[in-house]
Amino acid sequence: MPSLSVFGAQWGDEGKGKIIDHLAHEQDVVVRYQGGANAGHTVVVGTRKFVLHHLPSGILHQGKRNVIGNGMAVDPETLLREIEELQRSGFPIGPENLAVSGAAHVIFPHHRRLDVAAEAWLGKGRIGTTGRGIGPCYADKAARTGLRMADLLDKDRLRSRLTAALAEKNALLERVHGEPGLDLETEIERAAGFGARLAPLVTDTGALVRKAYAAKERVLFEGAQGVMLDVDHGTYPFVTSSNTTTHGIAAGAGFPPNRIDRAWGIAKAYCTRVGEGPFPSEEVGAVGERIRELGNEYGATTGRPRRCGWLDAVALRYGLELNGADGWILTNLDVLSPFEEIPVAVAYERGKRRSEEFPFGCASLEEVRPVYERRPGWGADITGVRHHADLPTAAQDYVAWVEKKAGAPVVLISVGPERDQVIPRAGLALARRS
Ligand code: GDP
Ligand code: IMO
Ligand code: MG
Repeated sequence: MPSLSVFGAQWGDEGKGKIIDHLAHEQDVVVRYQGGANAGHTVVVGTRKFVLHHLPSGILHQGKRNVIGNGMAVDPETLLREIEELQRSGFPIGPENLAVSGAAHVIFPHHRRLDVAAEAWLGKGRIGTTGRGIGPCYADKAARTGLRMADLLDKDRLRSRLTAALAEKNALLERVHGEPGLDLETEIERAAGFGARLAPLVTDTGALVRKAYAAKERVLFEGAQGVMLDVDHGTYPFVTSSNTTTHGIAAGAGFPPNRIDRAWGIAKAYCTRVGEGPFPSEEVGAVGERIRELGNEYGATTGRPRRCGWLDAVALRYGLELNGADGWILTNLDVLSPFEEIPVAVAYERGKRRSEEFPFGCASLEEVRPVYERRPGWGADITGVRHHADLPTAAQDYVAWVEKKAGAPVVLISVGPERDQVIPRAGLALARRS
């Protein structure tokens, strides 16, 4: 499988970090192509837990190349901190295993400040962002006023671009938001300092990835966030500001779309969402709290309690179909073990109308009520199971039933946060795309 897209098929936090770390031992290159430090990808290795924000989840394996693609929004300060923390934990990081695109956009302190200020202005209509400056940075990218990583390495260019940018952003901060502006010289020095430290890693990552693929190396594209947070195909405006789906790879990694050989979604056996926006199968009461406690559902980036609810097969089918998924990975199945019955949303009702189709537009999604089918639970601890045949029959039946509802085969089942807590799906015969 020369190139593989692995993307979040729900609202983010599906277990991408854990799964991509697990898959990375068979890969040569792991590429992030969108998002930035809004992502929090958890990898558990024995008693140690790592939360990756910018760094691809192949970084904990030796001999792999990891790429921060041009489509990412990079906060150089946070990235450097992440690198140093891992180095202190005994993971060497340098040009041999990490490349940062010179075309990736840079998040500055004014982006973070404007992110928080914009949310305050939105009041009740706020998105519930991570406050990492993602929206303002991508807005500047589209407005062509942003700075890219390569701009940090050239002090004259940095000065001229940041002078122009801060003139406008300081006016916004001071006159619209009533906050103090940022000092231009301080910001230039800070940014140049970050640039100097990151310079050995900055390169043309698109060329790197295309060459690796041409040399028959195995390339894994690591999605951040999830389908429902995609700026075009998610629950707009309650989304992030990038294409979180497989569609983002071509632009965000500089990789030909017709060379993406396989796509796998990742979905939890239930649903979570952080931030605002529609979530049809949400459980706001005791049931939601029980799922949150059993699954330890607190944000890996912000620590916010995640909103919890049952698996939504309507939304999942939409996400898998939208991405042309060849299969998907079912995570956190162990979290459902204590439940006697497991509801799954199989259709939506709007007034008297029932539909199994995902509705167009956020407003329509706010109006639907989920229709549940209930499956019997298995009532046994499955965290130690490593072979499909050793799963309780009710759990095997659940997986088989749920993959039919989702419209694509389950390729891997995850039964715990640790690297090796996975079960390959038995009897899987995936047709290879020509
Ligand atoms: P990501 O953003 O998609 O990488 O997911 P997060 O790391 O934000 O959240 C997933 C959480 O679930 C993390 O705490 C993981 O350690 C944990 N996790 C991943 N897979 C499993 C699993 O199969 N079972 C359980 N119980 N936890 C898991
Ligand atoms: P990973 O990669 C879950 C959500 C925020 C907010 C919306 C917009 O760990 O799955 P932003 O800061 O991007 O402008 O916020 O998107 N969000 C995530 N939710 N997992 C994530 O990343 C997220 N990244 C952003 O909570 O609702
Ligand atoms: Mg996360």
